[in-house]
Order: sequence, then C-alpha cells, then structure tokens
Amino acid sequence: MRHFLTLKDFTKDEILEIIDLGLEIKRNLKQGVFEHHLANKTLAMIFEKSSTRTRVSFETGMYQLGGHALFLSSKDIQLGRGEPIKDTARVVSRMCDMVMIRTFEHSRLEEFARYSQVPVINGLTDSYHPVQLLADYMTIIEHEKTKNLTVAYVGDGNNMTHSWLMLAAKLGFELRIATPKGYEVDAKILAYAYDEAKKSGATIVVTNDPKEAVKGASVVTTDTWVSMGQEDEKEKRIKDFEGFIVDDLLMCLAQKDAMFLHCLPAYRGYEVSENVFEAHAQEIFDEAENRLHAQKGLMVWLDQRR
Ligand code: CP
Ligand code: NVA
Repeated sequence: MRHFLTLKDFTKDEILEIIDLGLEIKRNLKQGVFEHHLANKTLAMIFEKSSTRTRVSFETGMYQLGGHALFLSSKDIQLGRGEPIKDTARVVSRMCDMVMIRTFEHSRLEEFARYSQVPVINGLTDSYHPVQLLADYMTIIEHEKTKNLTVAYVGDGNNMTHSWLMLAAKLGFELRIATPKGYEVDAKILAYAYDEAKKSGATIVVTNDPKEAVKGASVVTTDTWVSMGQEDEKEKRIKDFEGFIVDDLLMCLAQKDAMFLHCLPAYRGYEVSENVFEAHAQEIFDEAENRLHAQKGLMVWLDQRR
C-alpha cells in the first residue's frame, strides 16, 4: 500500500505514470466515457483548512470514478473537539477506502498515515502541496513546455515552493526560486532537493532577486504571500514582499511565450498583477481544471496498489 504524502517517496517514472493515467482518464471523460474504476469505494476528505479546488476536484473526481466522497470539516467532526488524530485515522480507515487530508503541521498528516489502513493523500500541509504539482506538471505537458523546462518561482518559500523543489529534483528540470530575505525555503528540504538533483540532473538556484530567477524562464509561477494560518502576519508580509509582484515588467524578462501558473487563490496587486493574471487566464484555469484529472489518476493508481 502506498500513501501520497510528498513527492519525495515517488520516482520520476511513478510521477509521470500517475499524470499519464490522469491524462488518459481526462481524454476519455471528454469523449463522454466515465470509467468507474472506484465503484463502491469511498474517499474521506478531512479539511482542517478552507478549500475550493481541492474539495471540488476530489469530490467530483470520486463521483466520476463511480465512488463516493465524504466532506469532513474538522469543525464538524470530533477531531475538531480534540479526538486524537491517530484514533480518527483508525476509525475512518476501517470504513473508507482512501483518505485525503488538508491540515497544518506535516507531522499530523504523517501520524494519520502511520495509523491508517488505507492510502492517505496530502491535500496540503504547512510544508507541502504535492497534488497541486501533479496538476501543474500535467498543464506544462499539455502546453508542450517540457523541453528545456526552466521554472521560475517568485514569492514566499512555502508549501508550494517546497513541492516545486521536489518535482524539479525528481524530474530533473531547472528551477529558480526567488524569495525575499527571511522567507527562504526550508534548509532541510533544500538540502534534500540538491542531493536528488545530483541524480536527476536538475539545476536548482535560490536567490533573493526575482529578476535573476525569471530571466529566460519558460514557466513563471508564484503563490500567495500569506498562506492559510499566517493571517496575523499579513501586514508585515506585504511590506517584506515589496518588489516581488509578478507584473508585466518582470514577465518581460522571461521567454517571449513563457507560461504563467498560479495554484490559486490569487491576490491581484500583491503576488501577481491583474494584467499578468488575465493575460495567462487560459493556462491558469487549465491548471485549476487539471486538479480534477490529475487526482483521478492518483486515486486510481493508489487503489491499484492496495
Ligand atoms: N490550489 C488549491 O489547493 O486551492 P484550494 O485551497 O481552493 O483547494
Ligand atoms: N500556500 C497556500 C496555498 C493555497 C492553495 C496556502 O497554504 O494557503
């Protein structure tokens, strides 16, 4: 049995296999073919943070695969009143066939997985957001940008950045990360990525200069400056991130036909300008839709290995 907690535990071939499976299911869906690979199966979705895309994509995906999804907000279940996560894991995993969790500390997800009898999927933690990267890479494939791929990430060294690091290190492309001073990526995760990069041939560059990161890039991406759980730091962060907006001036430095990706939700005027966002809306909303298709590939793949 396999869990999907970070991309660390997956090989390049496995990551590509999951995305390919998602693409195949997507093609069939567009032809009106519903493949009920998960008939009679249930997915428990535990949310300790808000969500639009993750909830809608997993719930819809499970339905389209012939199964059923349960939306369990921590506000409504006993977990939110202090029932231990390991007890929640032992109960839910006896009744459901798969679990997706969105939570705070990554260790909470790991603890759940340790006690679970069924595959557990990371639906975002403070440290990683790996399902988003499956959708992002699927979008890069569809837009034919995999050749000489150079991704520039501009912004906060957060869960998205850490997942980009894992993806680049595993798949072997160039990733340049520009964060303000004091908002760099986690040193341990970076060290792991450098190590993996030696094997895969990836190039990883970290800088405090957005221009240096974006120059000549084929894909530019960013994320909110204020992640869920950091609301109290909002004012300080907005000051500290000055100069890190992805706007037309910055995008000019990338390749002419560079893509812009954003995991969403996007805050215009902060991490991205309205102009850049709307100019790349097609790519951004392809990326959002691909959450559905990539995660269907993931759920079927995990189910096949139980
Ligand atoms: N990108 C993403 O995970 O969106 P939600 O927070 O809406 O699920
Ligand atoms: N970094 C953001 C991603 C939201 C999908 C957060 O954790 O809130």
